[in-house]
Amino acid sequence: MDSRAFVQQLLRENEEYLGRLKPKETLEADVGKNLNVADLLKAALKNEMEALEIAGGWLASTPQADVKVALARQAGDEAKHYRLIQERLRELGVDTEDLDPVAGSHTPLFQYLSTLEGTVQRAAGGQFTREQIATVKNRQFADFCKETGDAETFRLYDETIGPDEHYHHQLGMQILEKYATTPEAQAWARAAARRTLELADEMQKAAVQRLGTGRGPGC
Ligand SMILES: [Fe+2]
Ligand SMILES: [Fe+2]
Repeated sequence: MDSRAFVQQLLRENEEYLGRLKPKETLEADVGKNLNVADLLKAALKNEMEALEIAGGWLASTPQADVKVALARQAGDEAKHYRLIQERLRELGVDTEDLDPVAGSHTPLFQYLSTLEGTVQRAAGGQFTREQIATVKNRQFADFCKETGDAETFRLYDETIGPDEHYHHQLGMQILEKYATTPEAQAWARAAARRTLELADEMQKAAVQRLGTGRGPGC
């Protein structure tokens, strides 16, 4: 299949899967659960750090100049998000300067992505799919902030973090269009996308238990 047609097909498959992932939580369901934006933002710090480590970690073993540049751009953006979220937490009275968000352990999704070798698999899992999930999650989180009257956090996600994550997804799309040109490469890409979605699904279920809502932010 032509790689552009393949990427469009993968996009639709991911969207279909993500449509099933939508949390049932609404403001009504979340009310009375004692949800705390600061706790959700602390979870976001871990996501941002893992996204930064993944993109930065792949740099040295990536041979293609355009992919290196895309990964470096993403790593820089994730570092910027980390700092912006820390600043917002500080305004909310939470100091995270000495926090190590991955000290406890890395998530299963991080562990899976770090095993990926090859530009097509990495772009499919780490940028195209993970960042598509992040875009959906951040939209839900921004809506949550709006509903709870947290205009500053809403603005951060609506104006800066959300658009950046969408751009990372588009970088993944461009890389797949350029490099996923054979049936074999397309099969690798599809497998990496599917496993990324499955792990994100499992993690979201765990997050609902831990944080009390499925509307926490992505990366
Ligand atoms: Fe991102
Ligand atoms: Fe990010």
